[in-house]
Order: sequence, then C-alpha cells, then structure tokens
Amino acid sequence: MTENGISRRSFIVGAAVTAASVATMGFGLVGCGKKGGGGGTYGNLCTALQTEADDIAKYNVYAEVASAEGYEQVERLCKAVAAAEQVHMGRIFTFASTMNPKCALPEGAAATAGATDANLMAAVVQETEECGVTYPAYIAAANEEGYAEVVSLLDRTRKAEGFHAQLFFDCYNNLQRLDGATYYVCPICGFVSKGELDGACPICDTTFNAFQSF
Ligand SMILES: [Fe+2]
Ligand SMILES: [Fe+2]
Repeated sequence: MTENGISRRSFIVGAAVTAASVATMGFGLVGCGKKGGGGGTYGNLCTALQTEADDIAKYNVYAEVASAEGYEQVERLCKAVAAAEQVHMGRIFTFASTMNPKCALPEGAAATAGATDANLMAAVVQETEECGVTYPAYIAAANEEGYAEVVSLLDRTRKAEGFHAQLFFDCYNNLQRLDGATYYVCPICGFVSKGELDGACPICDTTFNAFQSF
C-alpha cells in the first residue's frame, strides 16, 4: 500500500482498465464517422498537435510539483519528456503545415496537478493511451489515405510514447528509492533513454552524441 492507502497494483490495474475502456471505443475516439481513422489525416495531425501541446504544459507543471516535493529526478524526467513532446510537435507540424499552410502551432491547455505520486500515474495513463490507442488510429487512417511518410513519423512517435510510459512508471514504482539517473532525449524521434545508450537510438538510429541530457 502507498502512503495514501492505494496499492500500486490496484492503481495500475485501474489505469489499464481505463486504457482498455478507451480502446473499446476504437476509432470513434478520433472519428467523425469516416472508416479507418475518423476525421482524416490532417484533422488527426491537428488533434495530435493539441495533445502534444497539452502534454508539454502538463509535464512542465508536474516538474514544478516534483521540484517542490524534493523529487529532483522526477523533475528532470518530466522536463525530458516535455522536450520529447516538443520534438513530436515539431515533426507533426512540418506535415500538418504542408497539408494546410494556415495550420498554427496550438497553445497547451492550462494544466492542473496533484501530488507527484498521482501525477506520475496520470502520465503513465496518458502515454499508454497515446501509444496504444490514439496514435495507432492515426496511423491506420494515414495508411489508408496513402500518407506513407506520415505513417512512418507517427509510428516512431507512437513507439516513443511507449517508452515515456515506461519511464514514468519506473519513477512511480521507485519514488522512495530513485537512483539519480540522467535522462537523454533523441532530437529526431523523441525517444527518452534512462542513462547513456550503448548504441544509437533504438527507434530512429540517431547517434547518441546528439541526445540532450536532463
Ligand atoms: Fe510522450
Ligand atoms: Fe530517435
């Protein structure tokens, strides 16, 4: 049991149920009724841009909370993942603005936060949903519409979100015994590594020397 009486196991089971519930909604999550992914690839890219902007705002607030609560490593992880989401925004915006020159980068919604323990689990749920539900739907739509380069970009993004979820969960599970690790962000795909990489980025093959440390 945690200090607030909620076991970590029941917490993650609850998160999984939430993700599964969302998954059963299928493409309806992003859909406007169109087969294979809803509002079309441009609309999906706009939604993805807003989600990434919201995540950046949220993780920066989580970083402030973690700092105030003395969780310096969590603060760095939140900043690292926020930087990774910034990479995603930039890549997605390149395609969205090509499809529609009037496309503008969105502002993130004002973020609210709880204690670090709860913030980390909220981040796990968010990143898991993006990896397992929303980006797969966007990828299916882009594939159906023949946007091969968008499929490639979104697939890399989806994989990075999965790693983000793992890192948040790692901190959640080890909050009282954090190991002081440094985090490194791939500037090309937004993959985040805990500690130095032995080789290149596992998602996009970018050399580790180009990564930004947090
Ligand atoms: Fe992410
Ligand atoms: Fe990468």
